[in-house]
Amino acid sequence: MRIGSLTFNPPVGLAPLAGINDRSFRLICRELGASIVWTGLISGNALQHGNEKTEDLLRFLPAEHPVCAQVFGAEPGVVAAAAAEAEGHGADLVDINMGCSVPKVLKGRAGSALMADPERGEAIVRASVEAAAVPVLVKLRTGWRDRGAGAVEMARRCEGAGAAAVSVHPRWAGERFRGVADWSVIARVKEAVGIPVIGNGDIRSGADAVRMRAETGCDGVMVGRAALGNPWIFREVGAALAGEPIPPGPTVGERIALAQRHVSLAAADRGARVGVREMRKHLAWYLKGMPMARALREKANQATTEQELLDILEEAAAAATAEPTIEGTR
Ligand SMILES: Cc1cc2nc3c(=O)[nH]c(=O)nc-3n(C[C@H](O)[C@H](O)[C@H](O)COP(=O)(O)O)c2cc1C
Repeated sequence: MRIGSLTFNPPVGLAPLAGINDRSFRLICRELGASIVWTGLISGNALQHGNEKTEDLLRFLPAEHPVCAQVFGAEPGVVAAAAAEAEGHGADLVDINMGCSVPKVLKGRAGSALMADPERGEAIVRASVEAAAVPVLVKLRTGWRDRGAGAVEMARRCEGAGAAAVSVHPRWAGERFRGVADWSVIARVKEAVGIPVIGNGDIRSGADAVRMRAETGCDGVMVGRAALGNPWIFREVGAALAGEPIPPGPTVGERIALAQRHVSLAAADRGARVGVREMRKHLAWYLKGMPMARALREKANQATTEQELLDILEEAAAAATAEPTIEGTR
């Protein structure tokens, strides 16, 4: 997949996940085969107010590039300034969020509300393309159902305004994550525009990615929820899309070792207090399906130090050795 002057091989990326895609997780996903990683959504308004926590979302590790910074807002000038700021911090691409449907974002008339207000959405893309030299992408949903533009019209508008690619998560704005993603919407967008189209929604395996590409003709795919606790999905999807044999899934030992590394990366990057807090949920995902997972998850929720989390993972390894036949893991 080519976007601007950048080539993405294999054409699979980590989808934007607010509160999850920090530097450590993005780095791990890159190492395990994602050729591009998205940040979670970053508020243009907060950047304008110089909010320190928001500014920190635009700090990148050398090894995680290429990284796509996702910004959101309702004012063309504000989003364009955010796009330029993201580029200044080293983002290789900028993505404009037209998919988020959490009440706080919708109240600000941003995210998927822009699909109900296509002129405004288009103006935001145009201003951002003017403000940033890096490729500008747009993340779309199916639409707002009863007004505004559907994904096809919005994708055309984005292309006309200079977007370098669009991604499509084919659920209606109000659906959040319910039901099944309607991949036929991705196919219709792909037919309608000449820029690359990245398909997203419900990919849980390499076979799913192959099926999405075959059914929709999309240029690349983006994986979100299936990467939680399983960043090996990128290796699997990459092999499947290349028509290569699927590499074996991780052993319990590999899973524990990666979780331990993730804990250490997060603590080093974000400081012990925040790093440990952020890692609790990741630990729960890594431990899923393992013996004593529930008890260890509860223990992790009480942990306050990096060492405690590392000890919990040692306990998980010991429990897995004592009970070697675990469903779904080797
Ligand atoms: C916890 C969580 C956070 C998300 N945050 C964002 C976000 O910041 N920006 C965005 O465009 N989409 C966000 N999404 C949507 C995902 O990028 C993706 O479109 C959706 O999860 C469908 O893909 P999947 O089935 O591979 O998970 C989020 C989804 C989840 C579950």
